[in-house]
Formats: sequence, structure tokens, C-alpha cells
Amino acid sequence: MAALELTEIVKTFEERSVVSDVSLSVSDGEFVAILGPSGCGKSTLLRIIAGLEHATSGRISLGGRDTTWLHPKDRDIAMVFQNYALYPHLSIFENIAFPLRIAGAAKREVGEAVQRVAALVGIAHLLGRKPRQLSGGERQRAALARALIRKPALFLLDEPLSNLDAKLRQSAREELKLLQKKTGLTALYVTHDQVEAMGLGDRIVVMNAGVIRQVGTPEEIYRYPADTFVATFIGTPPMNIVESPDALVGFRPETVQVGGPLGPDTTVFPVEIQRTEYLGNVQLIYASILGPFEPERVIAAVPVKGAIAVAEGERTEFVVPTEELRFFDKGTRLALTKALSHSVSLPRRSSEASHV
Ligand SMILES: Nc1ncnc2c1ncn2[C@@H]1O[C@H](COP(=O)(O)OP(=O)(O)OP(=O)(O)O)[C@@H](O)[C@H]1O
Ligand SMILES: [Mg+2]
Repeated sequence: MAALELTEIVKTFEERSVVSDVSLSVSDGEFVAILGPSGCGKSTLLRIIAGLEHATSGRISLGGRDTTWLHPKDRDIAMVFQNYALYPHLSIFENIAFPLRIAGAAKREVGEAVQRVAALVGIAHLLGRKPRQLSGGERQRAALARALIRKPALFLLDEPLSNLDAKLRQSAREELKLLQKKTGLTALYVTHDQVEAMGLGDRIVVMNAGVIRQVGTPEEIYRYPADTFVATFIGTPPMNIVESPDALVGFRPETVQVGGPLGPDTTVFPVEIQRTEYLGNVQLIYASILGPFEPERVIAAVPVKGAIAVAEGERTEFVVPTEELRFFDKGTRLALTKALSHSVSLPRRSSEASHV
């Protein structure tokens, strides 16, 4: 049975559509990341699931139970907000203990549970303090601990690591992943950080402008984006998209061989080098593409150990294995099926042909 089932959820604010026709099924024990740009409706969707906001239409079921009209406290959900809300006048201990206190748990049980979750997120030494005596990252952990103290049917986490610096974020991410493995929690995790979504999510939901663009494993989303939005939202630098006479053609920067060699089935994009960037692990090579494609900027990402010297203004070729090309419809910008992709004519060249 699905832990969470959303059916055609719609939310409009003053006739402006913020969530459009969202359907999603989350399995028990699954960790699903919701990824999308600012303002695309991620928090609104989470608030609807939690019952803090009512959907304009659509249905929500949790563990097979229709919860569409249930009061938030009857939904068996724990939520960590984007702006974590700790009670300023309560100690960290009492903040974390709060959900158990209102559930009327015994004193001893509360004490043990607080110690356990505080240790889990690494704040056991801070329990006597007030929220204002904690750093932003420590407060975020306290909010996480408060959500983890019960084992609800579903966790909703809205950018719970957004206030941590890059290093703490990385370790918190590892903790969260371990925690999920240990406790088997089912979670929806909102972020606009693609690395976080890729690292944490069993599956990723990519949203834009209130619409789900794609649901898939990190690999599916990266390798087979459903449309040009997903293709260019995921990946740094993003997928190159160029216009050929009959379709949009996409290729990831790291699939490019600059100046060859030609493989058994490769596609060749004539380019003029603009500039290069050294990023430590990779070298980025920016180029403008030449006919028969629309003149657009494309990027190659070359591992630094294979770094190559190219001069500004130099004309060369970006050679891409044909199986790495992705094709999108010019009008709808949706990915073309394999069969349709084969009908797109491109300047393919193979190593055999080049000897002729
Ligand atoms: N109560 C409200 N009344 C009117 N518009 C709202 C309300 N709440 C949210 N919105 C609008 O709905 C859209 C989606 O907001 P939401 O908070 O869900 O975005 P988000 O994806 O969480 O963005 P972020 O990544 O910045 O947190 C935004 O355009 C926002 O301005
Ligand atoms: Mg938000």
C-alpha cells in the first residue's frame, strides 16, 4: 500500500494557479525529494499534505486513509518547516519533547526519547539551552530532532538544511540518509539544491510553475530528462540544447570530446572556442556552435587530467557519442521517443567513415 497518494491536487490563490494537477504516489519507507526553482509551489504542496492549507480540488490519502479533510493533528505527519519554528521561551529539551508532551507520554519515556533523537542529530550537549543561544544550524537540528521524536506515517521536510554552511550541510545530509536507513522513515523532502536532491532522494520529483515535470530516480532524471526544463535544471553546467533543422538536440557537457577522436558512432558539432574555465576537477570549454545548428553557446566539461589547450577563436569540433544525444520536440519541448529520435538527421560520422 502506498504511504502517500496524491490525486490531481490543485491549489489556486486568488484565481492564480500555484499547484496544478499534481498526482504522486510514495511507497512506505521511500525518501522522495521535491526539487524546483523558487516559487514553483513546493512549500504549498507540503502544507496541503500536512493540512495547513486546503487544496482547491484533489484528494490526499495516507496509508490508505482519505485525509483530504482531516485536521492537521489527526494526519500522523511531522513537518520541519523552511523557517523552523522553535518555541523561544522553551529549552531545547522542551522543544524536542513537545510532541510527546501533548500526546501525554510518561515523563521517563519523554526523557529517554529526547536523549535518543538529540544524540542522533548531534545536539545532546545543547539540551539545556534556549533557541536564541544556538547557531542557525544547531536550531535546524533541534527542529529536525523534534520531528523525529515520534514515528509518524510521514515526514515532510521543507529545506531543513538551508541554513547550514556547505560543510555542515554535507554532514547533515549523510546523517539524514543514515537515519532513514536506520529508521525506515517515509519522507518528502523539499529542496532547490539539486545535489541534495540527487544525493538523498530514492526518487526525485521535479516541479516547475506548479506542475510536476518528471518523477524518477536520480539517474533517470539525469540521463533521460522528460523535457528541456528538466534537462537544463539538472546538472552543472546544464545539458547543452541546440536547435537542428528538425528537433532540439541535447548533450551533457561531460559527454563531449573536444576535437575528437571519432568513435564508431559519433555526432560532430562544429564549434568556435570562446573561452575556457579551470575549476579544479574539470576544465569547462565554452564555444559557439556553427551551422547547420542555430548559433548558440555550448559547453564541454573535460576532466582536468585530460585537460586540453585550446585558443580563443579556434575552430574545432565537439564530438559526442550518438547514444548520448537526447532529442526534444521544438514545439512542446518534450523528449522524443527513441523511434522518433532515429528519424532526426544529424551530421553523424564514424571512425570508419572518416578513413574514406
Ligand atoms: N497564502 C498565499 N497567498 C497568495 N499566494 C501565495 C500564498 N502562499 C504562496 N503563494 C504563492 O504561491 C507560489 C508558490 O509558493 P511556495 O511557497 O509554494 O513556493 P516554493 O516552491 O516553496 O518556493 P521557495 O523555494 O522560494 O520556498 C508563489 O508564487 C507564492 O508567492
Ligand atoms: Mg518554499
